[in-house]
Amino acid sequence: MKPIRKAVFPVAGLGTRILPATKSMPKEMLTIVDKPLIQYAVDEARAAGIETFIFVTGRGKDSIEDHFDLSYEMSDTLEKRGKTTEQKILAETVPPAGDAIFVRQQRPLGLGHAVWCARKIVGDEPFAVLLPDELIEGATAELVEAYQATGGNLVSVLNIPREQTGSYGVIAPGAEANGRIEVTGLVEKPKPAEAPSTLMLTGRYVLQPEIFAKLEDQKPGAGNEIQLTDAMARLIGEQPFHAVPIGGARYDCGSKAGFLVANLVMGLKRPDIAPALKTLLKESGIDLG
Ligand code: G1P
Repeated sequence: MKPIRKAVFPVAGLGTRILPATKSMPKEMLTIVDKPLIQYAVDEARAAGIETFIFVTGRGKDSIEDHFDLSYEMSDTLEKRGKTTEQKILAETVPPAGDAIFVRQQRPLGLGHAVWCARKIVGDEPFAVLLPDELIEGATAELVEAYQATGGNLVSVLNIPREQTGSYGVIAPGAEANGRIEVTGLVEKPKPAEAPSTLMLTGRYVLQPEIFAKLEDQKPGAGNEIQLTDAMARLIGEQPFHAVPIGGARYDCGSKAGFLVANLVMGLKRPDIAPALKTLLKESGIDLG
């Protein structure tokens, strides 16, 4: 079985749900505490054993590329000033030379089309996909671990209230064994009454390279976009397909409320920030009623 060495990060989206912040700044560069969202996704992928990071970008997304480059001036200045802690923080953002690869999605034709834009870099091997506006702890490692047992294709899922299915991809579940659910169908953004389950796709995938042939002739689906979900649905029956419920928390950082909650929760988890944050929160007398 081929190992999962590459991950695709679709980052070409306009981020209109979070305007005006995203007018001149990629949504993936919005910070949760002190790290851009995209850095969380890259760190999650690296923790799952990923070695090659493929970013599908678009116009106005140059700061993502800069973020993963060596900032020579800053690093040199920190060195001269003896700021070793900051130097270490900076060094951790830079993948080894050649490990971060950027390709552009020229037109916003949908998530499926964005993934297809990475086909020549991925080549003939299985790969992971991470949607960075979903902040999820450890989901890619969970998929890669399950992949050792099942092979084929895998998606992370989360149970949501039925009234929300219209915002997400949803699986039709089959037999469940060892914490893995067989996927017998996939639907993008079904109406609540028509959804085959309430298990949503959280934006973490392990896919076989055959997905590219499906994407090649995939017709536009929900929202008139070329949907990854529709192409994946066509792999069912041809290859193993499983879903793994996420073990950790998930924050939808593409929504303003989700983004704010992620900042608070991640801040409260940080030993260097939590004490001050708790004090300020108490002092603020926030009334949640
Ligand atoms: C995309 C996927 C969808 C998935 C969602 C997770 O939708 O198409 O299947 O459930 O991400 O956030 P989008 O958010 O691009 O509408």
